[in-house]
Amino acid sequence: MTVTATATATATVAASASDSGDLEERIRRTPDRFRVLTGDRPTGALHLGHYFGTLHNRVRLQELGVDVFVLVADYQVLTDRDVAERLTEITEGLLLDYLAIGIDPARSTIFNHSAVPALNQLMLPFLSLVSVAELGRNPTVKDEVAHSRQSAVSGLMFTYPVHQAADILFCKGNLVPVGRDQLPHLEVTRTVARRFNERYGTVFPEPEALLSAAPLLLGTDGTKMSKSRANSIALAADADETARLIKGAKTDAERHITYDPEGRPGVSSLVLLAALCLDRDPHAVAEEIGGGGAAVLKRTVTEAVNSAMAPIRARRAEYAQDMGYVRSVLRAGNERANAVADATLAEVRAAMGGVL
Ligand code: TRP
Repeated sequence: MTVTATATATATVAASASDSGDLEERIRRTPDRFRVLTGDRPTGALHLGHYFGTLHNRVRLQELGVDVFVLVADYQVLTDRDVAERLTEITEGLLLDYLAIGIDPARSTIFNHSAVPALNQLMLPFLSLVSVAELGRNPTVKDEVAHSRQSAVSGLMFTYPVHQAADILFCKGNLVPVGRDQLPHLEVTRTVARRFNERYGTVFPEPEALLSAAPLLLGTDGTKMSKSRANSIALAADADETARLIKGAKTDAERHITYDPEGRPGVSSLVLLAALCLDRDPHAVAEEIGGGGAAVLKRTVTEAVNSAMAPIRARRAEYAQDMGYVRSVLRAGNERANAVADATLAEVRAAMGGVL
């Protein structure tokens, strides 16, 4: 089982989704017309949910010939935290994950917010293009506020979707592979681009979302797999840790294994994880396990994850031997991102009549 085969299987799912089919077709025909901007908050290790949800898709787009920018969204960590703890360590972990899954720094650009001043400067004119009422209606922000551990909502939490518009528009990204929770943010970006262009003349594209069609993977406790919920299996986890985490995963009392995401979320998410790793249909995987029950299910999942992730984990360990190189990848990416951001900011200044 190779990781490439897995990526292909999930891509097929994406291509057959009704709202992405036509877009997929255009990407395949003219990859050079697209620039992807996507990224991650450095709040913890990337996990299998990220891998099957978005990470493998970035590599697929890169391999199709699309110019891919990958952002380590370090300023976004400040939305919900007083102090960005362990930021360097987590950022370096992300870099290792990106390289291990096959992001190629010769073709793609890996960079971080805090190293690209002109990107951040775009937030100021962009903020002038949206109303406070519009910001207040963003459902993803509302949800994050509701789950926040902080007693007061910061101005950055309220406005970070506009910052995200700067993330995407600084490099004129026109394709953003996202999960459904990010769609309201992409709408903000499209609104900002449209209003800027109407007011000052056309500078920005109105980016399109490329929705991931991979079904949601649940964490080992049966809720959404999340960096902050201690229920995830990290890309970097070793084989023993993977076995331990899967052993502790929540199942149910019914012995016969079936794939029924609504009725049996815990069991079905394990079946799905095995199916994604094995590049097979989840119903077929469930049927094969059948009366074998939770024990056979967990053994199947553990073996599938460990063999699918083995090459990624081996490459990750190799890169970790050479952190000097890993840091140089970020430095080079930041240099490229700065050149692009400076050029865009100059265009923005000119369009706005020299102010700013
Ligand atoms: N908000 C995204 C997340 O939480 C990370 C992110 C920041 C992003 N800027 C972006 C994603 C721009 C897509 C485009 O995972």
